[in-house]
Amino acid sequence: MESVLRNAFLFLSKNQFANRTAKKYGLRFGARKFVAGEQIAEAISVVRELNTRGIVATLDHLGEFIFTKEEALESKDYCIRTLEAIAAGGVQSNLSLKLTQLGLDISYDLCLDNMRQIVAAAQRLNNFVRIDMEDYAHNEATIKLFHQLRSEYGATVGLVIQAYLFKSEEDMKQLNKYNPNFRLVKGAYKESPMVAFPDKVDVDNNFIRIIEQHLLQGNYAAVATHDDRIIEHVKRFAQQRGIPNSQFEFQMLYGIRTHEQQSLAAQGYTMRVYVPYGNDWYGYFMRRLAERPANVAFVLKSMFKK
Ligand code: FDA
Repeated sequence: MESVLRNAFLFLSKNQFANRTAKKYGLRFGARKFVAGEQIAEAISVVRELNTRGIVATLDHLGEFIFTKEEALESKDYCIRTLEAIAAGGVQSNLSLKLTQLGLDISYDLCLDNMRQIVAAAQRLNNFVRIDMEDYAHNEATIKLFHQLRSEYGATVGLVIQAYLFKSEEDMKQLNKYNPNFRLVKGAYKESPMVAFPDKVDVDNNFIRIIEQHLLQGNYAAVATHDDRIIEHVKRFAQQRGIPNSQFEFQMLYGIRTHEQQSLAAQGYTMRVYVPYGNDWYGYFMRRLAERPANVAFVLKSMFKK
């Protein structure tokens, strides 16, 4: 039953008609639990509230179904405005983004040009941009673009590495010369067993392996997971190997395991919450429901609340 629901929500997340309708009617059906709001001001006030509780953030201006150059340019402007709003609001947050939002499916050069402008703005504002990793079809182009930006802008830009891909360990070796700041995740997309570990236990083992390797190389790791077992492992590993807390952080998604987020911050770890905002909330919301169909009960309740 769970896998039927998961596939149904993943299917719905790709429905452009539903996406357009959702945009028109605004945040509904409990999406506010996972999405900070439609406007930048709402997102900044959510970040400010997190900051008061000792939690930092990474803001993501949601954007789906980008097919034209104009849409990609608009998305780029939103990213720059988000960086400016972070600086103006004096809140502690960096920026996360997806390259398809910035035109990767339209043209590599258009996307690179947009990214140069965003990363240059981040550098000017003394901030940081994290490139999310999307599905396998975009993996090579994303890594190529990261190489390019990293050599031009240094540590202002970071990348995500997915533990479920066979190739990730080799990619990390190739990128190690930069002493990169990686967000390490299990991986969220439906991939072929030709390219990704099909079994969860292998993904989890590889996740632990790449986190350990990255830390032992002396690099900064953002460990993004809601999985207690992995979090406890990382804490123990860092303690045993004398890796300081300043060399890693934990990351979770807005609205998920908020109690654990607070507890990690209280223990003195850097806890960063991924805060999405914008009117393109529908696809992101469907993917969160796909990840954990138990959240559907929450949504049903919110639909019947006045
Ligand atoms: P997993 O799904 O195995 O869950 C482990 C345990 O965590 C569960 O048993 C449960 O106890 C708890 N849990 C998980 N989800 C929960 C929920 N919704 N509510 C309550 N408890 C829950 N992926 C990607 O491919 N590219 C990317 O760029 C990113 N970026 C990213 C940023 C951040 C900040 C996070 C947290 C995650 C990502 N991801 C991602 C998603 C990631 O790849 C992965 O799909 C999800 O984090 C789910 O995997 P977990 O590691 O949480 O473990």
